[in-house]
Amino acid sequence: MDIFCDNAFAGKTIFVAGGSSGINLGIAMRFGAMGARVALISRSEDRIAAAAESVRGTGAEAVGIAADVRDYDAVASAFAQVAEKWGAIDTVVSGAAGNFLSPAIGLSANAFRTVIEIDLIGTFNVLRASWDHLRKPGASLISISAGQAKRAIPFQAHASAAKAGINNLTETLAMEWGPAGVRVNAISPGPIGDTEGMARLAPTDEETAAIKRRIPLRDYGTKRDIADAALFLASDNARYITGVTLEVDGGLLLGDASADALTLPERSR
Ligand code: HXC
Ligand code: NAP
Repeated sequence: MDIFCDNAFAGKTIFVAGGSSGINLGIAMRFGAMGARVALISRSEDRIAAAAESVRGTGAEAVGIAADVRDYDAVASAFAQVAEKWGAIDTVVSGAAGNFLSPAIGLSANAFRTVIEIDLIGTFNVLRASWDHLRKPGASLISISAGQAKRAIPFQAHASAAKAGINNLTETLAMEWGPAGVRVNAISPGPIGDTEGMARLAPTDEETAAIKRRIPLRDYGTKRDIADAALFLASDNARYITGVTLEVDGGLLLGDASADALTLPERSR
């Protein structure tokens, strides 16, 4: 399909892990509006049912299933249910995550393990469990990473390690699964407005303004920005793209682009 047409994903099925809120729900809504059938999983029965209901509001068919990505059998069962209902799965988004700010010495072993288990092992579970139900050739798998996978941020040892693992897993699976016609990519969002993630990482107006000052494009991104990148990676327009982690971050990962950083030192004028 060509993403530049209306209803480009009609007849396609997308499976979104961690789809009950935020960026992942934004992706689900956008694919629904473009005609896809949408399956969602998250831990909470109530939240995932409500999310499926909002996707149905776009006119799409949608189903919400409660499953914890740390539980391989639960994830595999969700894929089996969706494939039984709609057939081969075209697009998988693995975006379940847990995060909070903590210095490394404030993390118990269980705290570190919990985030690794949700983000990294959860992503392995989702991608691995999808395999038997993917359209081959043609499927597109998209994991949701983050900038701290490549550039360290204090108080993010757990999430940074997990997301770095996701980037590497993306590359390995792209190599192993490419011959079957399955593309494996990731999206690395920058700070996205109106999300749980930024509410946890930069809760005050001052912190938000300080981050925006450093971003080359001078603003937070939107859920729509991430959904549009996912549409592209899932589409035939991206048919020759695999193994990449696409930064959708206004240039943040390039470094500090604040006015101070972009001011030529006096001695050089
Ligand atoms: C230190 C903490 C902590 C904190 C929890 N823990 N919060 N340690 N500082 N703020 C510890 C607990 O004490 C416990 O260790 C261990 O972590 C597990 O906690 P539980 O509450 O039992 O875990 P669980 O119920 O599985 O919940 C997982 C969670 C929770 C990650 C802790 O916050 C959650 O459910 N989050 C999902 C929503 C979310 O985080 N969304 C934001 C994603 S955004 P002990 O030793 O006491 O047993 C994101 C942004 C990325 O990823 C990048 C943006 C730039
Ligand atoms: P969010 O709304 O909290 O989304 C996280 C989702 O994961 C929720 O739907 C949650 O649903 C689900 N989830 C958590 N643990 C789970 C588990 N064990 N099993 C299944 N589902 C689970 O946060 P967000 O800010 O939109 O973040 C979404 C994704 O974008 C994450 O991968 C995050 O790391 C990434 N990201 C976000 C930003 C940002 O600016 N917000 C930046 C970079 C990357 P339940 O609670 O119902 O289980």
